[in-house]
Amino acid sequence: MSARVALVSSERGLRVDPDLPIAAPALRAAGLAVDLVRWDDPDVDWADYDLAVVRSCWDYAWRRAEFLAWAAAVPRLRNPVEVLAWNTDKAHLRDLVAAGLPVVPTVWDPTDVAALPEAGEWVVKPSISAGSRDTARWTQPAAVLGHVAELTAAGRTAMVQPYLASVDDAGETAMLFLGGRFSHAVRKGPLLQRGEGVRQDRDSRGDLRAVEPTPEQRAIAQAVFDAVPSLVPGAAPVLYARIDLVADAGGSPVVLELELAEPSLFLPQAPDGALAQLVAAVEDAIR
Ligand SMILES: Nc1ncnc2c1ncn2[C@@H]1O[C@H](COP(=O)(O)OP(=O)(O)O)[C@@H](O)[C@H]1O
Ligand SMILES: [Mg+2]
Repeated sequence: MSARVALVSSERGLRVDPDLPIAAPALRAAGLAVDLVRWDDPDVDWADYDLAVVRSCWDYAWRRAEFLAWAAAVPRLRNPVEVLAWNTDKAHLRDLVAAGLPVVPTVWDPTDVAALPEAGEWVVKPSISAGSRDTARWTQPAAVLGHVAELTAAGRTAMVQPYLASVDDAGETAMLFLGGRFSHAVRKGPLLQRGEGVRQDRDSRGDLRAVEPTPEQRAIAQAVFDAVPSLVPGAAPVLYARIDLVADAGGSPVVLELELAEPSLFLPQAPDGALAQLVAAVEDAIR
C-alpha cells in the first residue's frame, strides 16, 4: 500500500496556496497517496497519515494556542511541533542574534523616541503575525510609538526595525531549503508603501522570480539553517525552511525572517530540480 501524506493547509490556503497544485501531483507521481486537508478539520484522523506536512495554515497567527495544541496531537508532523512553537513567534530572532547571526536590528516594545533604532523611517510589526498583518511603515516617531502602544495594549509584543530602503529596489531574497540542504532562491519585491499605514489585505505579490544568490547570501542562510537544531534542541529535523534576507544599510545581508512554520516555497517560480528535492525530502521524512 502506498504511504499516505497530508499536505496541511487552511480554509483560505486550500483555495489560494500556489504551491499545493504543484506539490500534490509531484508527490502522487512518486507513488504517495496525498490528501489536501485543513488543520482544523475535525473529521481528519491524523494517525492515518505516515506524514503530515504543515504548508499553508496561515490562520495560526490569531489562533496560535489552538494551532500548537493541534500540532502537538499529530503523531508524525513536519515541521515538528517544537519547531512550530519556537518559530511562530518572531521573538526567536533574539535567539539568532544571541547565536551571533546577522538579523535586522530590532527594538522590542519601545516606549519612547530615544529607544527607537537609528533610522529615518521605521517598520512596526507584531511578533506573532503572518502575511504582514498589523505591520506598517512610518516616517514619524510619534506614529511608530502610537502603533507600538496599540499592539502592546492588546497584549501583543511589538517589534520596531529601521525600514531597510534596499527592499525598495533590491527586494528581499528568499532562500529555500528542502530536506537537509539549500534548494533555490527567489526574489520578492517590496510590500509596504510609505504613508499607507496598517493594512490587513496585502496578500498578493506580483513580482516574484528565481535568482542566483550571492556567495555571501548562501553562507549566511546556511549558517542560519545549520543553527536551527541547537536552537530547538531535541526536535526532529526540519523538512523545509525559508530564510528571507535583505541588505542592511551597509549592504550586507541580514535575516528579515526565518520561516519554519508555513513558508511559501515559491514552487511556481522554482527552477527545475526543486520539486524533485521536495519529493525526496518527503520520502526521507516518511522513512
Ligand atoms: N525592516 C524592514 N524593512 C523593509 N521592509 C520590511 C521590513 N520589515 C518588514 N518589511 C516588509 O514587510 C513584509 C512583511 O514583514 P515580515 O517581517 O516578512 O513578516 P511576515 O511576512 O511574517 O508578515 C516583508 O516582506 C517586507 O516587504
Ligand atoms: Mg515575510
